[in-house]
Amino acid sequence: MPDRLRRLRRTPQLRALVREHVVHPEDLIYPIFVREGSREAEPIESMPGQSRLPLSGVGNAICEAHEAGVRAVLIFGLPTKKDERATEAYNPHGIVQNAIRAAKDSCPEMVVMTDVCVCAYTPHGHCGIVATGARTGRAGSKYSPPAGAETHSAEGEVLNDETLPLLAEMAVSHARAGADVVGPSSMMDHQVLALRQGLDASGFGSTAIMAYSAKFSSGFYGPFREAADSAPSHGDRSSYQHDPANSRHSVLELLEDVDEGADILMVKPGLAYLDIVKIAREVADLPIAAYNVSGEYSMVKAAAERGWLDEKRIVLETLTAFKRAGADLVITYHAKDAARWLCE
Ligand code: PBG
Repeated sequence: MPDRLRRLRRTPQLRALVREHVVHPEDLIYPIFVREGSREAEPIESMPGQSRLPLSGVGNAICEAHEAGVRAVLIFGLPTKKDERATEAYNPHGIVQNAIRAAKDSCPEMVVMTDVCVCAYTPHGHCGIVATGARTGRAGSKYSPPAGAETHSAEGEVLNDETLPLLAEMAVSHARAGADVVGPSSMMDHQVLALRQGLDASGFGSTAIMAYSAKFSSGFYGPFREAADSAPSHGDRSSYQHDPANSRHSVLELLEDVDEGADILMVKPGLAYLDIVKIAREVADLPIAAYNVSGEYSMVKAAAERGWLDEKRIVLETLTAFKRAGADLVITYHAKDAARWLCE
């Protein structure tokens, strides 16, 4: 063992020579919000620097991100209408479907990803269909339990298998509009399988799935729910999102998604869950994405505004930490700034 570890830290050139992890602009995915029916960009108060875009602003935003060095975006939509069946989520002319087309028209080389979840499209804001009364029925889905088996649900329960066909239809509509990658984020069991089967059956065998595999029930999503108007009106998401106290269970979630046909696995949130990123890297050979979520962004922004932190330094250090933990990709609201800083 060398007796003096400072030898290789002496000059910038020596440090660069032995640096283990480097962040590239190509590693970053930039989330954008698009609001149906609006005319102007509306700043999101809890996420300084981010806005809800009107459809007419999508083309410009995508070109600007591309110029900054960003190569992938993740689109979230805010529909004007919400209903129990989340109809707008799979409307071929819904806000996300239109935004995908606008993105691809303005910049065909930008990788377009979408979020596949119904929380922004239902009045109750849950990520699945909610039972309106206690009932016993017959499973209609081709997933588990076997179609035709008896099923029981209680009033208010978020129904797993009833939600799967809607998620599949939503993903197919995104693929049809031109999405390269769809991201199931509702944390319903078998959502990846449902999407894979739905996409394949509709001729979209080449559309990739980025699975929100280990998505925890987290307070760090607070600013996002304001941005996307998707906070649950009753209860919380802990009956379907992952318990922050569990890491062994996330291995099961990750491996299940590998089995169901995921192309990319995601861990979310990122910073408080770097141990899970590391575990994901160890148990699976697929690309691993970490979601540097809204709350993590807002904390950095708030401290930087007060002059308490150096934003650029903190962001680049954080992104490096994701890579060091084993992430290949990072979804971050800082993507545009970070890409510019990395290209300087
Ligand atoms: C949709 C979804 C959420 C986020 C991404 N997709 C919100 C949630 O699950 O409540 C959060 C992203 C962020 O906080 O940046 N289900």
